[in-house]
Amino acid sequence: MKAIETTSKQVVKKTFLSESYLPIVYEPSCNKVRRTDILSWLGENKKEWRRDLDTYGAILLRGFPFENAVDFQSVLYTTKEKLGDVYLGTSPRDKVVQHVFTASELPPHYPIMQHAEMSFLDNPPKLLFFFAEKVSDFGGETPLTDLRLIYKELNPEIIEKIKKYGIKYRRRYDGPSNKSRFSLWKTKRWDEMFGTTNLIEVNEIAKKNRFKLDWYGKDSLVITNSQTGFRNHLKTNVISWHNHVQTFHFESPVIEVWNIFKRQKTFRSLGVAVLLSILTFIKKLSGSENYDVHVTYGNGEEFTSDEIKEICNLFWKHMVAYPWQKGDLLIIDNYSVSHGRLPFTGDRKILVGWSE
Ligand SMILES: [Fe+2]
Repeated sequence: MKAIETTSKQVVKKTFLSESYLPIVYEPSCNKVRRTDILSWLGENKKEWRRDLDTYGAILLRGFPFENAVDFQSVLYTTKEKLGDVYLGTSPRDKVVQHVFTASELPPHYPIMQHAEMSFLDNPPKLLFFFAEKVSDFGGETPLTDLRLIYKELNPEIIEKIKKYGIKYRRRYDGPSNKSRFSLWKTKRWDEMFGTTNLIEVNEIAKKNRFKLDWYGKDSLVITNSQTGFRNHLKTNVISWHNHVQTFHFESPVIEVWNIFKRQKTFRSLGVAVLLSILTFIKKLSGSENYDVHVTYGNGEEFTSDEIKEICNLFWKHMVAYPWQKGDLLIIDNYSVSHGRLPFTGDRKILVGWSE
């Protein structure tokens, strides 16, 4: 690990974890740095850490005395960002304190693929904040990928098609009558996502986000929306791959779990990979109109298996994964860097917050 700079105020020492410049790491410059020191530093040096985010895409604060959700919340408030509360994403989350949620309540063996948070919305969050309150015994990393590189290196034919047609998403949700919180292919229930069972409010949120709602069965729902596949950074104007294509495509999880098996080499990851390969094969026979989460080009054209493979493998080529340490706090620029989760064992508690 190499140090690149020690600030004049002797609070933050900047380093990197490896040869990769993602993320840049802020550590205490000496063992006398208190929580109030780093909070003041973040408040007084916003220009500096925002510049680092523009350049590197993510900052890992490591070794500072952050203990719990309240400490995490005080960092969120110190940033003076407009903090978010409404989460229209797909992971089940629990609120811990104001503006702080559990990152995901999905079971430990579920992988979460690389994604820019809520990139399928018109206005995705600007910054994401993660905090490691408890770290897992094994796995559970939050890998990062530089989305600027994905845009730059991906097959130009795919890029051009997305430029021309955009992306279309379709998500099928159960309603409150279904008590189960998890299903292999589905996301959480719509009442959990919208945070209400009031249909007037649901329709308002849907209208605001340009979601087309189609109700079916007792209280099930299909949400369709079209969206851009790329975004320019609001400050640097650099363009990034910014969509949920490989996250929502039904063929991606198989590629993901086999890559995870290669990395983790456990019986569980092998079992998950074999089982998912069989289930995906069966699912493919049912036809895409029956998929609970699906993504196509904006004109309805399917992504081919080869295209999905190409996208997933490019993510794995550039993915950076490192183990969490208790008290780590990660700031991600959601317009240039994606995140995900590797399966884990043990008692992991990662908290999240975001700015709008
Ligand atoms: Fe996420």
